[in-house]
Amino acid sequence: REWIGAMVQAREHWSSKMGFILAAAGSAVGLGNIWRFPYVTGENGGGAFLLIYLAIVFTIGLSLLVAELLIGRSTQRDAARAFKESAGGAWPLVGYMGILTAFLILSFYIVIAGWTVAYTVKSLTGTILASGTEEVGAVFTGFISDPIEPVIYTAIFLALTVFVVLGGVASGIERAARYLIPILFIILLVLAARSVTLDGAGEGLSFFLKPDFSKVGWDTFLAALGQAFFSLSLGMGAMITYGSYMRRDDAIVGSAASVATLDALVAVLAGFVVLPAVFAFGAEPSAGPGLTFITLPSIFAQMPFGAFFSALFFFLLAIAALTSAVALFEVVVSYFSAGDPARRKPVTLWVSLASFVLAIPTSLSMGVWSGYTIGGKPLLDALDFFTNNITMPLGGLLIAIFAGWVLRRQVVQELGASGTLVGAWQFVIRFVAPVAIAVILIAGLI
Ligand code: PHE
Repeated sequence: REWIGAMVQAREHWSSKMGFILAAAGSAVGLGNIWRFPYVTGENGGGAFLLIYLAIVFTIGLSLLVAELLIGRSTQRDAARAFKESAGGAWPLVGYMGILTAFLILSFYIVIAGWTVAYTVKSLTGTILASGTEEVGAVFTGFISDPIEPVIYTAIFLALTVFVVLGGVASGIERAARYLIPILFIILLVLAARSVTLDGAGEGLSFFLKPDFSKVGWDTFLAALGQAFFSLSLGMGAMITYGSYMRRDDAIVGSAASVATLDALVAVLAGFVVLPAVFAFGAEPSAGPGLTFITLPSIFAQMPFGAFFSALFFFLLAIAALTSAVALFEVVVSYFSAGDPARRKPVTLWVSLASFVLAIPTSLSMGVWSGYTIGGKPLLDALDFFTNNITMPLGGLLIAIFAGWVLRRQVVQELGASGTLVGAWQFVIRFVAPVAIAVILIAGLI
């Protein structure tokens, strides 16, 4: 008992409520909001998708976020031990799957994040800014298929991540978020102001804001749910881990609502940056993942001060990616260091080595090793598919069932919210979330 008491004491915590909100928002806001959200919106018809997305974020997404934070905060343990502590049985497997998922996402996330660092530099040197999408596309493909250069940028990005994680919970992760999140908002506002005042931006704005429900189908809901999960960092223990650094009496519901709001706000602002520009320059909103790396540089090339705005945009992506990669890293570090601050350093170094070892073939899978496929996909796409379509929704489903049906009543009471609010949360987490997630999981697989 005493020993456990000492461990809880030694556990690191966020320095304040605001510190937690910024760190968790840092985890949520990432490539998912700025790179993925605009192109997924573009592919799914715009306004109607936005509306469905927001509805999902503030019901299922927010409920699951509350559940994960509660599981972490009440046990003061990492993603796997939190389940062992609160229920035992086979439940820790959900945590192990989450830790593995975090590691796998990390290994391709740092590759794409490396591209954003490279594109920040290359915007300034002008080498990525050409006027036709075909030319820009060729530059992009040339870059990502190079066997050496992207690996170097991955290493640079990984080193930054390690630097932050080594600083620990309050003076590393939280401090980075305190500086980076405000910078991110300022850059976003500057870029959005530039984009919405372009000649011809109106068409993009109405595409983004005017819902056209005639094109909504099942797949729109599936895309929105998947996007909400990835964007809010749900289903793989990241928010359990961040919740475990909250103090037992820190409020959950209000903070979770702030995090979801910040995350949605950044996605919407990113939509204001990308979509008006795409329409103003007559590009296709449904260009897919290449929208930010191929379509945007060709747009920047045609704008006055394009190199500056391009560098600013990719720098923004890199910042957003950094605080998210830190969260992915922390899930793994938290587990292997078992709450002992003295083990943070060696564990962080081992995890960084391991993720770099997996990141190398992941990067090469875009070029020289593209012939080696898993399920018909190059390694990078296979990792993305496996985590996004299988382990994250499966983890989310099991976490919802756990929080709704297994978690003890006393723990639920620790939510400290009003009876109606807790009732609404329980309804979503018991019925709505499991059914909705089961549907995407199955539909995603077939
Ligand atoms: N939410 C991050 C993004 O939108 C990705 C992420 C997923 C980060 C899971 C941590 C955990 O890019």
